[in-house]
Amino acid sequence: MEPHRRRSNAVLLLLIVSFPAILLPSPVAVAKEEKVELTVYYEALCPSSEDFITEYLNKIFDNGLISIVDLKLSPYGNAQISSNGTIVCQHGKWECLLNTIEACAIHVWPDVSDHFPFVYCVERLNQDENYTEWETCFEILNLDSKPVADCYRSGLGHKLEIGYADETMALEPPHVYVPWVVVDGQPLYDDYTNFISYICKAYKGSNLPQACLGLSHLIRGPRNAEKHLSHVCYKEDDVKSKSTLTEFISSMADSWISLLA
Ligand SMILES: *[C@@H]1O[C@H](CO)[C@@H](O)[C@H](O)[C@H]1NC(C)=O
Ligand SMILES: *[C@@H]1O[C@H](CO)[C@@H](O)[C@H](O)[C@H]1NC(C)=O
Repeated sequence: MEPHRRRSNAVLLLLIVSFPAILLPSPVAVAKEEKVELTVYYEALCPSSEDFITEYLNKIFDNGLISIVDLKLSPYGNAQISSNGTIVCQHGKWECLLNTIEACAIHVWPDVSDHFPFVYCVERLNQDENYTEWETCFEILNLDSKPVADCYRSGLGHKLEIGYADETMALEPPHVYVPWVVVDGQPLYDDYTNFISYICKAYKGSNLPQACLGLSHLIRGPRNAEKHLSHVCYKEDDVKSKSTLTEFISSMADSWISLLA
């Protein structure tokens, strides 16, 4: 392993072990029916998905909010299923690979406090365009890569992605871009980075977490979904408009996938 790689892993490990909620049992036990449903529709290589997961969503594991949240991740986003049944991803084949790997991780470790650190780790690498190093997340988190590799190779990962495609396409109202953040069935549109305020407002149980105190005034309400956001990844009408960079990334993913097969 090259020295710079070792150093970057150490940095990532530091970032990951700084989640107290992952290391300690959560202080409040809240029944599942009382929890606020938070679903995040995203795709692995959309920069704003990466940022949302690594700079906003991770906070609920730090501040204890995860104890009142039923968090579901949906790694599919703006991908499309072509007429021959293959999935075409907005940012090319690497994105399809990483979406599927994340779907497998969610399947293999169904508890969110088990799969979120893995998804976080991969998205943190993606954020620095180090996505080819995603397998280092197994090492960093001391996780067994075999069940995830088996899920990918057996085609189960593809089936899981088809399931996420169905759930994404069934969204009502339909998603306009990713990340698409939904709290108790209501999309937050462009106010999504404020999701903690919406969770606190939606929570009807006792033991309101400390993190909620004094937040309600922060809700400004979602704005319409016109194409005014520069940082999100909009759903495309046509999957054919790909940049040369995406094509380059795709050909690299092809060689990785053929090594795996
Ligand atoms: C990505 O790679 C660069 C160059 O090797 C490194 O400096 C950076 O820390 C890496 N990022 C992560 C999150 O590992
Ligand atoms: C399926 O369709 C996609 C997009 O139309 C194309 O790129 C791909 O080569 C096709 N795959 C097969 C196995 O025919």
